[in-house]
Parts: sequence; C-alpha cells; structure tokens
Amino acid sequence: MTRACADAEVGDVLGTYRRHFGGGRAAVGQFLGGLVEIASHGAWIEVDDGRRYLDCGGYGVFILGHRHPRVVDAVHRQLDRRPLASRTLLDPVAAEAAAALAQVSPGDLDLVHFVNSGAEATETALKLARAHGKTTVITTRSGFHGKTLGALSVTANPTYQDPFRPLLPGVVAVGYGDLEQMSAALSATNGTAAVIVEPVQGEGGVVLPPAGYLHGVARLCRANDALLIVDEIQTGMGRLGTWWGIETDGVVPDMLLVGKGLSGGVVPVAALVASPQAYAPFAADPYLHTSTFAGSPLACAAAKTAIDTIRDERIVDRAALLGRRLLAGMRQICDRQRPHGLVEVRGRGLLIGIEFADPGAVGELALQMLERGVLSCLSLNSARVLRFTPPAVLDELDIEYFFHAFSAALAAI
Ligand SMILES: Cc1ncc(COP(=O)(O)O)c(C=O)c1O
Repeated sequence: MTRACADAEVGDVLGTYRRHFGGGRAAVGQFLGGLVEIASHGAWIEVDDGRRYLDCGGYGVFILGHRHPRVVDAVHRQLDRRPLASRTLLDPVAAEAAAALAQVSPGDLDLVHFVNSGAEATETALKLARAHGKTTVITTRSGFHGKTLGALSVTANPTYQDPFRPLLPGVVAVGYGDLEQMSAALSATNGTAAVIVEPVQGEGGVVLPPAGYLHGVARLCRANDALLIVDEIQTGMGRLGTWWGIETDGVVPDMLLVGKGLSGGVVPVAALVASPQAYAPFAADPYLHTSTFAGSPLACAAAKTAIDTIRDERIVDRAALLGRRLLAGMRQICDRQRPHGLVEVRGRGLLIGIEFADPGAVGELALQMLERGVLSCLSLNSARVLRFTPPAVLDELDIEYFFHAFSAALAAI
C-alpha cells in the first residue's frame, strides 16, 4: 500500500473510535501509542507510519500467521464463486470442511456444528448439554469460555460476570487442576452435569494443570454420567505443539470446541465437534440450534484450507519445536537478567506466559515490547501474566528479533 493511500484510509481513526466505539476503547488505543494497523503478512503487521510489528499476540488466532497464501487463495476463489450459501440447498464447501475437521479430531468426534465465534461454540455446547438433561455445568475458576450470556456464565471471573447477573443457573466453579474438588462437585449432581474445561488455561494466564488432570476429569465424568466439554478454542489447531491439548492425556471428550486458528487467520469461524451420542439431539432436529451466517462457504473455505495447511506444512511439529526454543530462550534471558518481581516463565508449544508478582510489571513489559516492535497479549483472566502466542511461521531472523526485544524490554522495566 502506498503512503498516500494509507493516509487517506487512516484519517482520524482515534477520533472516530472515540465517537463511535466510545472513550474506553479509544483510550486503550491512545495508551498503546495510537498505532493504526494497515496491512499484515506472515508474522508481521504494518502500521500507518510504515513501522512493522512482530505479532506475538493476536490472542492465539494466528498460528499460520497473517494472510497465509494458501488460505487467502482459497478464500479469494470462494469469494468469486459463492461467498454465502442459500442455507436451503446442500453446500459442498461446508461438507468438506466438516469432514476435514472430523478427520483431525480425536476418537469418534465426527459430528460438526460450525459457528461464527468461540463464544458461540460454547453456547452450542451448553445448549446441547441441556438437550441431554444436563442442567448443572461445572466449570473451573479463571477458565475462559467467551462473553455471551451463556458462555459468560461459565467464564468464572467476577469482573466480567457481576454486571450481568443473574446468569445461567446451575453453574458450579471449582479450582482448576483440583480433581478432589471436581469429584466432590460431580458427585453432588446425580448424573445431571456437564463439565467444561480447557487443557491449558489461556486467558487464565497460561495455567498448566498437573500431569494427568484431563485424564482424571474424563474418568470422573464417566463415573458420574457427566458430559465432558473440552474447550480447545485457544489451545487447539497446533497451538500447544499437538493438534489438541487433550492428546497429552489421551482423552476423547463428548464435545470439543474449536475456534481461533480454525480461521486460518483470515475468516472468523469456530465449531463444536461431538460424538454421535452427544450430538444426537441436534442431529434429530437440525433447526434446534441455528444461525444465519454459521458455516458460510467463505468461512468453511478458510477452515478447510487452514486444516490442510497445518497438516501439509507440519505446523504442529513446528509449533512444538519453536515453542521449546522460545521458552528455553526466554528462561535463559530471565535467568541472566533476573527481572524484579518475576514469578515464572511457563508454557506449552506456542502458548507462553510470563508471570510477575505485580500486575504493573505486565503492562510495562507489554509497552516496552511494543516500543521494540513486538506485540504481546494481556491475559483477560489474570492481570499478572503477559502472554505470547506467536505464529508457527517465525523464521530465524524473527526469533532473533523477538529475543533481542524481550531482553531489552526486560532491562527497561
Ligand atoms: C478458551 C477460550 N474459549 C472461548 C473463547 C471465546 O472465543 P471468542 O472470543 O471467539 O468468542 C476464548 C477467547 O479467547 C478462549 O480463549
């Protein structure tokens, strides 16, 4: 894009934000330097003054980076041919995407329900659980499952929940990683429960559960006739260096939630994948839970191509390797520099968090990284953890750039 063209497009973005999105969002943008993004490619985002930023944030969406050429090409072709479907006739693109997603999903998870966002995938799972008579939902504290009213009810964070009470009834929150609490909560439900849980809590601040936790939760669900919903919206599609976080524990849930990376970083799309038994109520009545734009050909072209690309380009292995390297490098830098108030650097694959005793250090580090050309993300459910969710397409120069910025930013806080 030329400068003149960019200037015309950018205009007074901050002012327009203030007028039309409200002061709060504008203030955040201003605090972050008033940067206006105008183009993106691979691991990089270009802003209006021509500077480039290495995108190690993106809230976990960009496992393939920005505008991966295969995904962009597939979406372009679909746009030129048939972007939205009649929803009356059959759609081969949705069918292909569903088959591809089922193929990479564990066990007998073969039934697919596409939606437009992660929160909608959670809503779908909650409704499906209700259709089975599961009126209690057990969730984990600091778990994040979205912010629509149903999803918010299981996103156990009072900051987001309190302004909207009363929420869904029958929600019980237990400590993440605590099988005893899970067992006690489940045994009080008389077979009327569904459990929703993440393999690693992303927004909770990259919280890794004890080894075997998911396996234990699955065992308790079976023993108590509870449905298991595993939310892999952030952790799935290779983010943890495995296709799914649950692979580590060899668990096959009743429902799996997928989002973020499924978009290929190009078109928003999310999905619920379920076993035939779990999906039965929606299979029997396809109009029980619908949405006009869900599973559009455009979104499904992106999803199918994202899955193919992750497989063909060995993105899962690359995420595992790169994740190990970044985590080891960051730990080394922290050991050398001993930043004040550091608690821990932890992660799995390309979901890495750095925890400080003082939340102020998190904001400062994010700003210092930004100043050095690297985007990171805050954790919505933990003020003390800054997260890095880089794409698996970083090259050697990008890695060097990241380490250099990280080291300099730590020294500056
Ligand atoms: C684990 C998890 N579930 C659900 C969601 C909600 O997804 P969305 O923001 O697309 O509604 C998120 C978003 O961060 C998430 O990390």
